Amino acid sequence: MRALKFAVLAWWAAAPCLSQMAPAPPMGWNSWNHFAEKVTDADIRAAADALVSTGMRAAGYVYVNVDDTWQGKRDEHGVLHSNERFPDMKALGDYLHSKGLKFGLYSSPGPRTCAGYAGSLGHETQDAQTYATWGVDFLKYDLCSFQEELGKVRAAHPQDRDAAKNLMIAAYRKMGDALRATGRPILYSLCQYGVGQPWKWGPGVGASMWRTTDDIDDSYGRMIAIGFSQAGLAQFAGPGHWNDPDMLEIGNGKMGEEEYRTHMSLWVLLAAPLLAGNDLSKMTVADKRILMNADAIAIDQDSLGKQGDRLYQSGDLDVWTKPLSRGRVAVGLFNRSWSNREVSVDLAEIGFPNGAAARDVWKQKDLGHLTGVFTDTVPTHGVTLLIVGQ
Ligand code: GLA
Repeated sequence: MRALKFAVLAWWAAAPCLSQMAPAPPMGWNSWNHFAEKVTDADIRAAADALVSTGMRAAGYVYVNVDDTWQGKRDEHGVLHSNERFPDMKALGDYLHSKGLKFGLYSSPGPRTCAGYAGSLGHETQDAQTYATWGVDFLKYDLCSFQEELGKVRAAHPQDRDAAKNLMIAAYRKMGDALRATGRPILYSLCQYGVGQPWKWGPGVGASMWRTTDDIDDSYGRMIAIGFSQAGLAQFAGPGHWNDPDMLEIGNGKMGEEEYRTHMSLWVLLAAPLLAGNDLSKMTVADKRILMNADAIAIDQDSLGKQGDRLYQSGDLDVWTKPLSRGRVAVGLFNRSWSNREVSVDLAEIGFPNGAAARDVWKQKDLGHLTGVFTDTVPTHGVTLLIVGQ
């Protein structure tokens, strides 16, 4: 009991530094969704330049995260080097920092990453130190081949349902401790697809965010399956610790404009990390309007730090709300059907019995003082996103 109390106290002592690291959901860009395993140093530099020239950096997208496939070989001392597509990681970090951006990297607790490159198993402290010397600010740590270790434990202890989970948590704690020991603030992002409810133990291993699901792809079906499955997780998010329903696909071209607006609306209502995953050199006007809508971003980044949740669902229609600072509420009216539909919300039900001023986020329009039941015609696969209250 005493040991447990001490562990909890120790965690709380570390907690303020965690919330300083991610007081709001982290925002940035990640290489995987567009470049996948072909990514190069030049792509990352070009993405950094584009973050600045498009206004994405000014809108808040500051992390530039190199995902899987940057790793080369370990030398005779076990030190990991980048591969030929990334000639100088320290120089890359310096370049990102010179642009007012932050440097993110990717590894795995297993021997190999998901794409088969070197993972950190047995080299956690060494790798964390290497990242620190390169100026890394963010680490995504992806379960991948560590699942094989978990399989072995399950086979060896078929009766012990917690054995594999405990091993996984220990592996994530090991890297969390190694990052902290570097003395450099490195935001720790868990990626293990929501296995074993990381929202319950993520903060305890030093993480600021954790994936809640398996991978997203650039399809409306997959995006809404992930987004709408997040109901009930709101209580586990807050400043310094965020649920991560995976990165954004906006701008990758396989969803329509209304569908990408639904993607952004859901993610901001979920207080999700906003990690764009598109080719920033080819953004359309619509992509820019969606990713850089200041009201949508303000919902995500709101200082109250509350994740939203489902208010109700009726067939293909969904209403989600997110409490905001200064007594305001963000409301998303979603239509997942194949035709345009009317969707309503009762102002009294979301805390405004006398009605309230409202703003339509996507139309960029103040709607004046709304009372009673607000109804809007929402296009197929679309959304009306409101900020209600002064
Ligand atoms: C997993 C992760 C993805 C991406 C790839 C890279 O699938 O969930 O986000 O990092 O690995 O291999």
